[in-house]
Amino acid sequence: MNEREITLELIRVTEAAALNSSKYLGLGDKEIVDQAAVDAMRGMLELVDVKGTIVIGEGEKDKAPMLYVNEHVGNWSEDSPEMDIAVDPIDGTRLVANGLPNAISVMAASERGKLASLPTFYSQKLACGPELAGKLDINASIRENVKIAAAVLGIDVNELTIVVLNRKRHEALIDEIRKVGARIKLISDGDIAAAIATALPDSGVNLYMGIGGSPEGVLAAAALKALGGEIQLKLAPTDEEKQKLGDVDLDNVYFTDDLAGGDNVIFSATGVTDGDMLKGVRYYKNRIITYTIAMRSKTHTVRKVEALHDLAYKTIALESKGIDVKFSM
Ligand code: FBP
Repeated sequence: MNEREITLELIRVTEAAALNSSKYLGLGDKEIVDQAAVDAMRGMLELVDVKGTIVIGEGEKDKAPMLYVNEHVGNWSEDSPEMDIAVDPIDGTRLVANGLPNAISVMAASERGKLASLPTFYSQKLACGPELAGKLDINASIRENVKIAAAVLGIDVNELTIVVLNRKRHEALIDEIRKVGARIKLISDGDIAAAIATALPDSGVNLYMGIGGSPEGVLAAAALKALGGEIQLKLAPTDEEKQKLGDVDLDNVYFTDDLAGGDNVIFSATGVTDGDMLKGVRYYKNRIITYTIAMRSKTHTVRKVEALHDLAYKTIALESKGIDVKFSM
C-alpha cells in the first residue's frame, strides 16, 4: 500500500472512532466515550496494510488493554511498510461526555522510529502558524514572544489572539498575556485542535501557549509540519510525575521535527463535537455525516473530507467483537 492509500485508511480509522464514541454524547461518562473510540480505532487499524507500532497511545501496557505503547497494529502483511503510529482516540473525552464543542479523534503515522515517544506527562508548549515559524522562542518571555509575533504579522499586540487551556496552573500566564495587552481565547480542553488552529487560515487565533499533555504535542506537531507551522515543547512534569520520569533533561526543547520526524508524516482528525476546526458527527434519519481533515507533510496537501455513512450498510470493525459489526445507534 502506498502513502496516499494509507492517508485514506487513516481517515477511515478516525471516522470510525468519532462515529462510535458519538453514540455516548452528553451521557456524562468519560470512560465509555474513550472505550468506544479506542475499540473502533483498534478494530479499524487491524485492517490497515501497515506494520504499525504504537508510540503514542493510551499508556503503558499494564494500564491500557488496547493501543498501548509498543503494541503492534495493522495487518503486518509481508510487504507492508513499517510505521510509527500516534493516536488520541478522543482529544476531549470530557467534552464528549458533557456534549461540549471541540472534541476530535486523532491519529498520525510516520516512518518507523520517527515519531517521538513522549511519556504521558505534562509539557509546556508554544505553537504558531507558518509566518511565525522559526521566529519565536519557548524560553523567551511572554512579552518578547508576543511583541515579535505582532511585529512579524504586522498587527497591533491587541489584535493578537492566544489560545490557553483554562487551568489554575495558567493563572500567571493569563495575567501576563493580559498585561502585555494581547487577546486570550480560553479553552476547557482539547489542545491538539487549538495548536493546529494557529496554522489554519481564518481560524482567528495566532498562538497556542501553556502546559498540556505531551502526547498531544506529538500529534499537533504532525499536523503543524504539514501546515508549515511550528510547535516547541519542553517537558514540564508535576513534582509527582518527576519522580516517575527519572533522569530526563527538562531544559531540552523539542521542535516540530523532533516530535514528528520523517519525510512523510500523515495526519487525520475527525470531529466528534462541533469545533472551530471541524464540524462534529451529524445524525440524520439512517445517515450520519462525519468531517475529517487529513494532511501529508511530504506534499503539504490538506484534505477536508465530508463522508456520508449509510446506516443500512455501515460496518465498523470493533476490536472487542473481533469482527466487522453493523454500526448501530
Ligand atoms: P483527554 O481527552 O485525553 O482527557 O485530554 C484533554 C486535554 O484537554 C488535552 O487536550 C490536554 O493536553 C490535556 O487534557 C490537559 O490536561 P489536564 O486536563 O490535566 O489539564
